[in-house]
Amino acid sequence: MIRINENYSKLKASYLFSDIAKRVNAYVAANPGKSVIRLGIGDVTEPLPPVCIEALHQASDEMGHRSTFKGYGPEQGYAFLRDAIAQHDYAARGCPIAADEIFVSDGAKCDCGNIQEIFAQDVRLAIPDPVYPVYVDTNVMAGRTGPNVDGRYEGITYLESTPANGYVPSVPKVATDLIYLCFPNNPTGAVATRAQLTEWVQYARQHKAVILFDSAYEAFIRDPQIPHSIYEIEGAREVAIELRSFSKTAGFTGTRCAYTVIPKSLVAYDAAGNAHPLHALWNRRHTTKFNGVAYPIQKAAAAIYTDAGKQQTRDLIDFYLGNAKLIREAMTRLGFSCMGGDNAPYLWVNTGRDSWEFFDLLLNRAQVVCTPGAGFGKCGEGHVRISAFNSRENVEAALARIAAALK
Ligand code: MLT
Repeated sequence: MIRINENYSKLKASYLFSDIAKRVNAYVAANPGKSVIRLGIGDVTEPLPPVCIEALHQASDEMGHRSTFKGYGPEQGYAFLRDAIAQHDYAARGCPIAADEIFVSDGAKCDCGNIQEIFAQDVRLAIPDPVYPVYVDTNVMAGRTGPNVDGRYEGITYLESTPANGYVPSVPKVATDLIYLCFPNNPTGAVATRAQLTEWVQYARQHKAVILFDSAYEAFIRDPQIPHSIYEIEGAREVAIELRSFSKTAGFTGTRCAYTVIPKSLVAYDAAGNAHPLHALWNRRHTTKFNGVAYPIQKAAAAIYTDAGKQQTRDLIDFYLGNAKLIREAMTRLGFSCMGGDNAPYLWVNTGRDSWEFFDLLLNRAQVVCTPGAGFGKCGEGHVRISAFNSRENVEAALARIAAALK
């Protein structure tokens, strides 16, 4: 008799953003005349930078000629893209990351969901609360947790991000093995200072742990004091994996391209205590289960590292940060305290009310979609996340509607 993976039964019935989409679709069906503005899921709205479009066209033409046609590419990504990443995202910031330590993929969501499979079943997890749900759900699916009791899975050390710690958790008092960190943070928009990241790297070194550092939103950092990469911290090459994405940096949510960095100096241990390089394990996994990102997409991604590409992506992000500033100002005027929006595309609004109730209120009275904080974890209760990814016109209209609705 074929059986299911019963770990799936521990999960909530549906993924947070599918759940929200269902509610919004039901509202739209019941209220056909009303226009809904979506500031919920962090999906970009502005077109791809012109350099990317040009590269896509050129690369597509190459695919139409026998002499330049490409079949399977290297699973880890083409050298032209890995070299550009190593040079512009790492060497330029003084981070010693080599091109062959970079694995190009079709998304940071897939990478952060898949990476857990190279670790032992019984590793001790440290996961922030609130958190991007993929980190938790994929470990639940893999059987690394007990059941969900009162909104928390047994077997996870939760790293609480609250107003009291400025939404940046400190290292736990207990030892853990696999630590998920995300800065600039999704959902809170908080950033971590060099001192805070140093504390995490030291903790990981002390416990022979690994940090999964998700920096999908690093391009939104405008404060020059804030590190963009965990590898700006001394000693991180021995304890950290970094995940990055072109999704939010260059509008690739529908185009799909990302990368994961695994330094060759990073090891984990077998039951006998022997060290094994994680680079080799991930390479084995990647070559077995992945066949590379399409050539035209990698060409488009590489185009953002040209001078014109750098300017165009900066302008794109400045545009969203302009939206974020407007949201922050408007919500502050309404009397809410807010985190984020200055070095991140997300505003984390402390509403002091039940977060699903506040979500329903904004949907029903203002036709604006946000994301209820409780969907990101227990500590998200009392908050909502507002995304800056939309047109200026829609953001301004949404803010006017919210102000009128909350009067
Ligand atoms: C979010 O809204 O949290 C993100 O869009 C999710 C993602 O990047 O997968």
